[in-house]
Amino acid sequence: MRTIDLIESASVDELRSLQLVRLRRTLRHAYSNVAHYREAFAAADAHPDDLESFEDLADFPLLRKEDFRRNYPFGMFAVPLSKIARLQATSGTTGKPTVVAYTKMDIATWSRVMARSIYAAGGRPGDMAHIAYGYGLFTGGLGAHYGAELLGCTVVPMSGGQTERQVTLIRDLRPRILLVTPSYCLNLIDEMERQGMDPAGCSLEIGICGAEPWSEELRNELETRLGIVALDIYGLSEVIGPGVAQECIETKDGPTVWEDQFFPEIIDPDTGVALPDGEFGELVLTTLTREALPVIRYRTRDLTRLLPGTARPMRRIERITGRSDDMLIIRGVNVFPSQIEAEVMKVDGLSPHFQIELGKTGNLTSMTVHVEPQQASGMDPDEARNVLARHIKGNIGVSAHVVVRESGSLPRSLGKAQRVMHSATP
Ligand code: DLL
Repeated sequence: MRTIDLIESASVDELRSLQLVRLRRTLRHAYSNVAHYREAFAAADAHPDDLESFEDLADFPLLRKEDFRRNYPFGMFAVPLSKIARLQATSGTTGKPTVVAYTKMDIATWSRVMARSIYAAGGRPGDMAHIAYGYGLFTGGLGAHYGAELLGCTVVPMSGGQTERQVTLIRDLRPRILLVTPSYCLNLIDEMERQGMDPAGCSLEIGICGAEPWSEELRNELETRLGIVALDIYGLSEVIGPGVAQECIETKDGPTVWEDQFFPEIIDPDTGVALPDGEFGELVLTTLTREALPVIRYRTRDLTRLLPGTARPMRRIERITGRSDDMLIIRGVNVFPSQIEAEVMKVDGLSPHFQIELGKTGNLTSMTVHVEPQQASGMDPDEARNVLARHIKGNIGVSAHVVVRESGSLPRSLGKAQRVMHSATP
């Protein structure tokens, strides 16, 4: 095992003792410095001094996105503003944005886990890394940037957008590593082809892709078309940003959670009850060293399972199926956009771009999947429509109306793809 941090090869026992010490410290820090935790712990009759084992963590209350909203903007911070070196924020498309904070030490921790992530993905000091995650309040760009610099990479801080220019820079500067959302990566590959480049022949060897759910089928597509190994990176602003978990190149079997920094649990999303490892449910995360914003039992809404370590002794998460709030319920069947993605990608002649439109027929929700032919595929649209509808019905169990649009007409992702739209009610 080649790692940059010794803790990555610590035994599970060593790791558990470290986690317990850090967990107690974090609970005390949150309790002493954040009114929300003091009140919520008291209401649940839980006190940091009561935590003796990991099982006791279940007595502590879960933290929800709404708790951040109620305490907007600074109420969840555990240090005075004068000690905060950086603020970042979520986009707030579903309400007020969430403002997250870092002390200098938190930024050092974040850079460390990101450097570790890039290394685990096969990146090495001296490699050139092209960062196409958005810079600014979104944690993607700056998180990746600090990590790549710490590892000793030559960083190209491209940010998202300006697709034509991105491709020119990739061609001219010849980076080895690309950090990008999987949907925007597709957009870059299309642009390379439009410019007459052979994407598979370009300098890129490693893709570090995340910030949105993606399927194994999309991974195969990116790897084949771009000639890279594409690895999954997971993270979220409330916990730190990118770098909570990273898939290792040795095994490519789901992201390893950097457990010396983040303690994962899985709960039943309906009851909130903690589930044993291996069971499918909602990921809950507790930070173990954060100073500015200690997060205790945060409900991520991301659905997955905890799996035993392989490339590292630390546990892995299975590829995230989707967020519980992005789950579509079509006539009683639960559907995630990533499942539709997988089916679209299996149909020859269809491009991997798609969009799901939800409509109402009476009281029932109906689903239309908009797709496009691959350029110059000569595909018969009727045939593709029927094949896709049949696959969706057979493999997911729902009926979908499929519309084959003109090539290039569906909106392209510039960062996180917007997969679902609602049709205007007549
Ligand atoms: O997306 C942080 C990030 C940036 C992660 C770059 C990876 C790469 P937020 O904007 O707060 O932060 O969104 C976090 O994105 O709760 C998941 O629902 C989703 N997400 C992030 N990574 C993955 C992934 C960043 N690898 C939310 N697979 C999370 C599936 C992901 N979903």
